[in-house]
Amino acid sequence: MRLAEKISIVTGGGSGIGRATCERFAKEGSSVVVAEINEVAGQETVDLITDAGGISNFLPLDVTDIHSVKAMVEHTVNRYGTIDILVNNAAAFPMGSVEDATEDEWIHVMRTNVIGSANCIKEVAPIFRKSGGGSIINIASVSGFMAEPEAVPYNASKGAVMQLTRCTAMDLADDHIRVNGVCPGQIDTAGATQVIIDRGLDVVEADKERAAEALMKRMGRPEEIASVVLFLASEDASFMTGAHIVVDGGQL
Ligand SMILES: NC(=O)c1ccc[n+]([C@@H]2O[C@H](COP(=O)([O-])OP(=O)(O)OC[C@H]3O[C@@H](n4cnc5c(N)ncnc54)[C@H](O)[C@@H]3O)[C@@H](O)[C@H]2O)c1
Repeated sequence: MRLAEKISIVTGGGSGIGRATCERFAKEGSSVVVAEINEVAGQETVDLITDAGGISNFLPLDVTDIHSVKAMVEHTVNRYGTIDILVNNAAAFPMGSVEDATEDEWIHVMRTNVIGSANCIKEVAPIFRKSGGGSIINIASVSGFMAEPEAVPYNASKGAVMQLTRCTAMDLADDHIRVNGVCPGQIDTAGATQVIIDRGLDVVEADKERAAEALMKRMGRPEEIASVVLFLASEDASFMTGAHIVVDGGQL
């Protein structure tokens, strides 16, 4: 029970890495707010947790809308009294070369991945400050470190998420708020599969190529990211802030 009596918010908790994180946090004793734009998916995560004996509830959230973020944080505090952990996981995945990407795609990816995470930190930080501290984990990506073909908007956004982590860690350190990031490699999720479909690629072939990129010659499972998010959220990572942990089976 590494998160006993902690209150956590996980954005995009209705699918993939977000869902696995919600389930793991609940198993470790945290009450978990599944904050999601997709109500059906978010409620499914809540049902999985409550069926397993955990404490969880769904709150609608669009991270790109500051009013939605404010309402989600307010509801969380009204229900649980405080917040201890924020996981910024929700993301958009527009790909393409700099010539392919439309301005709307740029605005969407930056508003979701970068400004959306900043919105959540902005609203949660005063609650953390009041209670004497907290832990924020931003889900970045190996795509924040490396160049990949036709992936400019997404990779640029993840590079920005990593700087959001470092700079926010500096600004919030005096308030005992730790801010860290996790950089997953190729993880088998619905979101990643949708990217492959949107690019018109064969899913089986693309998955083989994704698996081949890791030294371990397989894709990662969402649970394998959740366990590292748990570590950063917990007291086991009490001397870590401004750091990124790469979880990629050796891809980088
Ligand atoms: N899957 C991978 O291979 C991989 C690799 C590196 C990093 N990541 C990162 O991990 C995180 C999770 O990815 P995933 O593969 O599990 O994705 P996913 O698409 O399976 O899940 C993302 C969830 O975020 C929600 N969401 C999207 N926009 C939202 C918004 N505006 N407000 C609230 N919720 C919103 C979606 O409804 C969805 O449930 C993302 O930050 C992604 O960039 C994934």
